Amino acid sequence: MLRLVDVDLPLEPLPAGSERYTEGPHSVFEEQVLFALFKRYAGEVAVEIGTALGYRSQLLLAAGFNSVYTVDVEPCKRQLPVGIAQIVGNSLTTTLPHMLYGTTDLVFIDGNHSRIHVAADTRLAHSLVRAGGIIIWHDVFVPFHQVKCWGNDPTGHIGKSEVAEFLHLDYPYTVNVYKGTTIGWLKVG
Ligand SMILES: C[S@@+](CC[C@H](N)C(=O)[O-])C[C@H]1O[C@@H](n2cnc3c(N)ncnc32)[C@H](O)[C@@H]1O
Repeated sequence: MLRLVDVDLPLEPLPAGSERYTEGPHSVFEEQVLFALFKRYAGEVAVEIGTALGYRSQLLLAAGFNSVYTVDVEPCKRQLPVGIAQIVGNSLTTTLPHMLYGTTDLVFIDGNHSRIHVAADTRLAHSLVRAGGIIIWHDVFVPFHQVKCWGNDPTGHIGKSEVAEFLHLDYPYTVNVYKGTTIGWLKVG
């Protein structure tokens, strides 16, 4: 059974000039939490599922990764800096470069938030990440008593709680959740 444990880590100031989302649920606090996690577990290679504008791909670079591979169904609308390679494709079907399997230091899951996708992306992440590496999920782990549903969006953004419940049945592990956020992470192996 999936167990969620609240964890508090020292936060990091954001890198100078970093761009970030300023609307919706995104906040400086959440950005700092991600940056602290990326820095704490920085290594050679990171894979991100869900590029959007590439803000967090850049944050991964700023945290110390040498190479970031980021997958999205849509090409990024911004020019991405050297060190970030975008793979345009559906994470359910795309084959990533073979050298990433079993060697990736960190996988950041932030693509389609429907439970089917998050569960599939979680399986993909387990194939990619090396022993001792890290999987980080964005927007997934909401304690069941704090359910905040996003409504029935036809694109599949059904509700954060359902994703947590699905993983709850599928993955018998303990996930750290940064206190007061929906950011979870797991050290693999
Ligand atoms: C929340 S945004 C990603 C934000 C980005 N990780 C960041 O932090 O800056 C989600 C992205 O997932 C992409 N996406 C949705 N379904 C996908 C799929 N099946 N495979 C790959 N990307 C997908 C969307 O196009 C969107 O750009």
